[in-house]
Amino acid sequence: MDATEKREMKDLAKAITPRRLNNMAPRLAADAYEAIESYFNNSKSASIDLQQTYYPLVFRFTVRIMGMAEYASSPKELAKLINAFWLTQKNSGYWTTILPWLPQPRLLKRLYGAVTLWTMVRSTLNKRIQSGNREEDFAQDMIDQGHPAGTISRFVIGGLIAGILNTIGTGAYSVAFVGADAALQKQCRQAVNDGIRRACETHGEDFENLTPLERLQTVRLEDWEQFEEFEILHLVFKESIRLMLTNSLNRYYPGPTRNKDGSLRERLVIEGHEIEDDVYICFSPPSNLHDAKEYPNPFSFDPMRYKRGEGQTDYNFIAWGAGYHKCTGQRFAKLETIIALASFLLFTDELKTTDNNGEPYSLARVPLPDLSQAHWRSPTKPMRIQLLRNHSK
Ligand code: HEM
Repeated sequence: MDATEKREMKDLAKAITPRRLNNMAPRLAADAYEAIESYFNNSKSASIDLQQTYYPLVFRFTVRIMGMAEYASSPKELAKLINAFWLTQKNSGYWTTILPWLPQPRLLKRLYGAVTLWTMVRSTLNKRIQSGNREEDFAQDMIDQGHPAGTISRFVIGGLIAGILNTIGTGAYSVAFVGADAALQKQCRQAVNDGIRRACETHGEDFENLTPLERLQTVRLEDWEQFEEFEILHLVFKESIRLMLTNSLNRYYPGPTRNKDGSLRERLVIEGHEIEDDVYICFSPPSNLHDAKEYPNPFSFDPMRYKRGEGQTDYNFIAWGAGYHKCTGQRFAKLETIIALASFLLFTDELKTTDNNGEPYSLARVPLPDLSQAHWRSPTKPMRIQLLRNHSK
């Protein structure tokens, strides 16, 4: 990692400090509320495709935190940004990696996406600077600190990539799993109601006289993380991550490095194999997360497995990485996913995961995604979520 990348990593960590997350949480709750309201479009029920609805919500969360928050209040512009983002992501693959400049349709689409993304972020940034308008995203902190526009744009795009790729599919499937099991849904609904009530009492708020959104906005980061009531939501997310993750962990090994006194360190040995100089070592988290010895029935969705002691350490649940470069976005990823899932439960009376004809999927039949498509986790069979509006609203 060079000095610029190290600085960008530090900036990313600063963008999602607990203080910032706590400041932003009520805004994220309002975004989730607005999104769900828009699905209903003044009706009592709605039928949604998660890719077309949940994914934009996570984009909205991410632009609010990283930048440019202007997109969070402009659905049309946000849709343009999202489209450009996916052009860059969906058109990467084997050939674009091996022969990056070979003229091919994928390359052109990727370039078009990258240029659009860059131009949009740059022009929104310039407009903000020129107009003197202020937003609460981290790009604003960088503007205030006098960073050049190029550095800020690079940060924003990097933040979008880091913040979105692993979070969208895993969060969307958390909703789908909860919608496929009435007992699990009842448990989660109860958990949300009880946890939110406790948060209101803890923070001296009058639960009965608040709207559902105001109640949701009372919950602080630490409450979402520590209240035992919310544990089941975390287990659902953890199990969705276990089933969905497809990334690889890559490390460069230059060969033995030297100690401070100049003596050579020992050569790296992994599982009895001496590692050569100048190689990349790749590790596949999905193999760890589907290890049948650790996870009996590794392809079945079973959030209670963690209560039985499965997947308790970084080494048998490696989804967030391990060692020096563990995911720095873990708290943000959990916060946004749990707020979204809690909103789906709080602002509806029923969620049902169905096929295109409204036929419900049981938990075992929820169509899992085609994992070959970068991070765009579309289900292998049509899947929709039917929502029934909360009658008390
Ligand atoms: C379900 C959601 C997520 C999962 C499963 C996940 C997983 C991971 C993993 C496995 C790594 C380690 C990569 C490696 O060792 O090479 C990582 C690193 C990282 N993640 Fe996440 N991530 C998620 C969400 C996020 C979010 C929302 C952000 C930020 C907004 C984020 C920011 C980062 C950063 C900056 C690193 C690099 C840390 C470093 O190199 O020191 N991640 N993530």
